[in-house]
Amino acid sequence: SKQKELKEIAGILLMATSVDNWSPIQKFEAKPDDLLICTFPKSGTTWIQEIVDMIAQNGDLEKCQQVILQQRHPFLEWTGPPKPSGVERANAMPSPRILKTHLPAHLLPPSFWENNCKFIYLARNAKDCMVSYYHFYRMNQTLPDPGTWEEYFENFISGKVGWGSWFDHVRGWWTSKDSYRTLFLFYEDIKRNPKQEIRKVMQFMGKNLDETILDKIVQETSFEKMKENPLVNRSAVPKSVMDQSISPFMRKGTVGDWKNHFTVAQNERFDKIYKEKMEGISINFCTEL
Ligand code: A3P
Repeated sequence: SKQKELKEIAGILLMATSVDNWSPIQKFEAKPDDLLICTFPKSGTTWIQEIVDMIAQNGDLEKCQQVILQQRHPFLEWTGPPKPSGVERANAMPSPRILKTHLPAHLLPPSFWENNCKFIYLARNAKDCMVSYYHFYRMNQTLPDPGTWEEYFENFISGKVGWGSWFDHVRGWWTSKDSYRTLFLFYEDIKRNPKQEIRKVMQFMGKNLDETILDKIVQETSFEKMKENPLVNRSAVPKSVMDQSISPFMRKGTVGDWKNHFTVAQNERFDKIYKEKMEGISINFCTEL
């Protein structure tokens, strides 16, 4: 049976160790030239990290791999075990730093806002995100058992999964984006037109790479390439943590897999709840390509 390592803070489930060590996370001192990658879990975090690193390394895959080997992008709310924590790692890192978090905007350490840091938020349509998270819950042995699909479905829509409600998460970051330096991206857009979206990231990072390098980054960050890359496909993670025989970490990487999981009734119910929860904000998600 799995360890249940989630605990609530302000009504949001996080890793229990983060909640138990919350103060150093909240007191984290961001710097003005920090770049923070923000996502709700399973929205394509690994993908955008690879894109950002490839851009930072001017399309040099070797250098990008070295960054990963040195444990890239401290995960802000990670407190271990194993140590060091995300905060400790970030503090020890030279600037300009690239950091990562799954925190909802309202739980972010305030210094990020105070220092007007840059944020890249990657959003994925809720239905595919829900499906991806379900399989991640099944294979990740440090997360509680998701129960049946039906049970999990209810938990997801009521925000009783790690990092809380997808709706609140997306709303929070969408709402803050006009007041702060935020590049708000959609998983489905990168899937549909990777070069165009990668160019946006490049410009946001203040880089200017030529077309051949951009083409190379498009290729190297494709699902097929990343699935075979041992430094990103988690093949080195022990089975006691991630059992990829249950579901691979690089699972499908598609838009619309929700159709293989949602019943017609669940879909109708979901659409109704979505409308209620996302009322008043003009955000458009694509759920099929
Ligand atoms: P699926 O489970 O639908 O396949 P995260 O990195 O935030 O945990 O997100 C994981 C999801 O992103 C998984 O979705 C994974 O397959 C997908 N993903 C990872 N790399 C990708 C890529 N290069 N292109 C498309 N999807 C990718």
